[in-house]
Amino acid sequence: MSPTARDGVNGLEGIVAAETVLSEVDGEAGRLVIRGRSLDELSDWTFEDVISLLWSGFFETLPDDLTAALGVARSEVFEEVAGLDRRLAERAPIEVMRALTARLSDGDDLATALRLVAAPAVFTAAAIRARVGEPPIHPDPERGHASDILRMTRGVPGSSAEVKALDAYLVTVADHGLNASTFAARVTASTLAGLTSAVLSGISALKGPLHGGAPGPVIEMLDGVGEAAQARAWLEGALDRGDRLMGFGHRVYKVRDPRADALKRAVRALTHASNTPPARLQLAEAVETAALEILRERKPDRSLQTNVELYTALILEALAFPASAFTCVFAMGRVAGWVAHAREQVQGGRLIRPQSRYVGPVPRAAA
Ligand code: ACO
Repeated sequence: MSPTARDGVNGLEGIVAAETVLSEVDGEAGRLVIRGRSLDELSDWTFEDVISLLWSGFFETLPDDLTAALGVARSEVFEEVAGLDRRLAERAPIEVMRALTARLSDGDDLATALRLVAAPAVFTAAAIRARVGEPPIHPDPERGHASDILRMTRGVPGSSAEVKALDAYLVTVADHGLNASTFAARVTASTLAGLTSAVLSGISALKGPLHGGAPGPVIEMLDGVGEAAQARAWLEGALDRGDRLMGFGHRVYKVRDPRADALKRAVRALTHASNTPPARLQLAEAVETAALEILRERKPDRSLQTNVELYTALILEALAFPASAFTCVFAMGRVAGWVAHAREQVQGGRLIRPQSRYVGPVPRAAA
């Protein structure tokens, strides 16, 4: 058999590799459940509320005031920003954030877990600022996490609508079954390497454009299309070149990703609250309509639908994050899930150690 054969083992499609109480992705119904709550039920929750939901039972106790505890953790990890020298600052924000996160010590306790949630937020803000020659801003432990992320990134507080939009984003992406980065985190956790190691595995897997690296290229796609009337021609050209359309297709969802609608609602609310013209949203909707049409025509036997990344790009752009840092903002939310999965893996699982099938040459003596 050829080593590149696309059988069920290739990409582990359809393989159940863990049991979890954390989230369920129903790809046929287009439904996401986070610990017994539908995504819709979480629409008014803060990110800290969702951390409490995900982490409950995975640590001896959780702090009564998780917002305050996370604020303290942001201040603690800020010390590591001293390691952001000129050479590191030239690298992509995700690499900066990963390098600084790697400076945190490993552990399995709640304090380590809180520092790991704080890390992508504090280090990404510092990385974004360093790229434009601005000094880092010390966290304000009194603020909620989303509010402080905006302040640390821009130097001025965000509006309440912006804080709400960022909370909605972080909540929406906090956990999502056994996606590639969560699987990577669980594999590392299963060796008992510790939470920091597990989160670093998650960040590294998230970085790729087939996973959390897609929203940056979504912006390039929207900029390339330019105006709605050009959408079809531009997208056809991209597919003719052999490119994939970023923000479309998913391993599990065969219908529309429910997170796309949650984020679209959040973008709409933010656009409305800030009185900005909805031109970008309208362009994205035109691109979405054209892309779905073309994908249906070109791949009639696949059900390629909108995934979370299309409207992720829009909401993060509206919040003024640079496209180069979109994946880092994704990590700010998903880290809550990585930590919970890592704890669940350690508490109930065994070492993850699958097998490969050898398809290489046999030694001459055995032939
Ligand atoms: N554009 C064009 N064609 C696509 C796309 C797309 N976005 N997605 C899948 N296809 C096609 C593939 O070319 C392939 O065609 P073929 O069978 O004729 O060779 C077929 O659909 C199946 O592709 P696979 O890569 O096997 O499907 P998989 O389940 O692994 O894909 C993935 C999932 C990686 C997300 C894919 O849909 C993709 O590359 N999308 C674009 C990148 C993207 O949006 N990533 C973010 C995903 S969401 C997240 O991770 C948070």
